[in-house]
Amino acid sequence: MSTVRDFYKDKNVLLTGGTGFLGKIITEKLLRCCQVGGIYLIVRAKKGLGPEERLKGLFEEPVFQKVKEMNPNYIKKIHTIEGDLSKNGLGITEEEKDLIKNVVNVVFHCGASLNMESKLHDAVRTNVKGTSELLDIMKDARNLHAFVLVSTAYSNCQHRFIEEKFYEAPIDPELLIKMTDQLKPHVLDSISSGLIGAWPNSYVFSKAIAENLLLIKGKGLPVGLFRPAIVTSTVSEPVPGWSDNLYGPLGILLSSHCGILRVIRANGKIKSHTVPGDMCINSLLCLAWDVAQKWKNSSSSFVPPVLNYSAKNSKLLIPMKQYVDFTEINYVPFKRAMWYQTLFLVKTQYNYLIVKFILHTVPAYLIDSMLRLSFRKPRNMLNGIKTYILKEDMTKAKFHRQRYKRLTFIHYTFKYTLLCLTGYPVYKVMCKLLKKGNRR
Ligand SMILES: NC(=O)c1ccc[n+]([C@@H]2O[C@H](COP(=O)([O-])OP(=O)(O)OC[C@H]3O[C@@H](n4cnc5c(N)ncnc54)[C@H](OP(=O)(O)O)[C@@H]3O)[C@@H](O)[C@H]2O)c1
Repeated sequence: MSTVRDFYKDKNVLLTGGTGFLGKIITEKLLRCCQVGGIYLIVRAKKGLGPEERLKGLFEEPVFQKVKEMNPNYIKKIHTIEGDLSKNGLGITEEEKDLIKNVVNVVFHCGASLNMESKLHDAVRTNVKGTSELLDIMKDARNLHAFVLVSTAYSNCQHRFIEEKFYEAPIDPELLIKMTDQLKPHVLDSISSGLIGAWPNSYVFSKAIAENLLLIKGKGLPVGLFRPAIVTSTVSEPVPGWSDNLYGPLGILLSSHCGILRVIRANGKIKSHTVPGDMCINSLLCLAWDVAQKWKNSSSSFVPPVLNYSAKNSKLLIPMKQYVDFTEINYVPFKRAMWYQTLFLVKTQYNYLIVKFILHTVPAYLIDSMLRLSFRKPRNMLNGIKTYILKEDMTKAKFHRQRYKRLTFIHYTFKYTLLCLTGYPVYKVMCKLLKKGNRR
């Protein structure tokens, strides 16, 4: 047995974000390869389903097929704890907190809100305060070997090179949490762009603050920081090509191969740092082992390790234009394809808007009109574009319709004003011409 596997034998692992993409791969790997004692999953209720029901559905997913075949009793190792990262005390009962403190040896804090559009208030509550609350619980843990925070390689993306170190935060994490707790959400929103500053969105900003919090609040604990780049489908474990999310490259590939997405704004020469999910998780598990070794050897001089997991100097670092070339490799077209697959990468905004209009907007209107003319229902091409390409939220349709009504009003007001302004002089000229004609 390898040293790392040996480390996990009979250990109790606490995992947040177990229902997410990376969380599933972590759970599967621990169950299949590591003979862990137990896995404690902090799961919230969602869409009318309690944590237990959600987990039942989760283990029906294909990613767990292999583990179920190998170990039909796997479920005995799974312990569900109802909790929500955005709630005070994570919304966990005192008994369950005591249980965690007594039994947990390794923590993977993977749960987070990845919504780049989310309000600062929400991002901070889940990603920063959630981390703070979890560290508070683990401070009193009886036998903690490692606590790893999963962040992102882009948490400090305003720097050209990301080193394996902690970066200074622009604001004291505790102060930001206090502000989030005490300021009304709309007040915080009104100052959020100033706070976020050089960061491109609330997600990466909140991750940067959470990293800093780990350093401050994690003092005296065996903590480590993991920063993966863009995580995509598995390369081999448990099956090649598994993924359940459509962020980043997979979203582009899916919508392009469905024939919906035909142009993106990107520089084809820029290399994209994608890493396969299974390799990423293997490194994460090794990092927790590394933290535990360093802590065991000298807890007094312990420096929290930071691991950036990206594709630097690797075959995985591929230029964006290769996404287009993937079509050549053993290509099996999608059943749902609506159009021939082509994907143009356009560098400049101006050219992008023109190509987008020609390749997205015009065909969408053409197809919808043809379907209407043949008395069939449009195939929702426009809604597809709205959802997949413009990445707009369909749940906000009511507001978008209201805004569109206002735009319609402005359009017609402008149109008829223009008609009146130009129509009156034309009418006058016509009258004059008619008069002249009558005199003759
Ligand atoms: N995927 C990537 O390419 C990538 C790259 C770099 C870093 N990361 C990091 O990796 C981690 C996992 O990402 P992922 O791709 O697995 O994301 P994901 O599929 O969106 O999963 C997010 C997980 O966090 C949980 N979560 C969110 N808000 C929560 C809350 N308030 N309370 C409890 N749980 C909550 C979600 O639970 P629900 O099911 O209840 O929503 C879900 O299990 C994140 O920390 C992310 O920053 C991911």
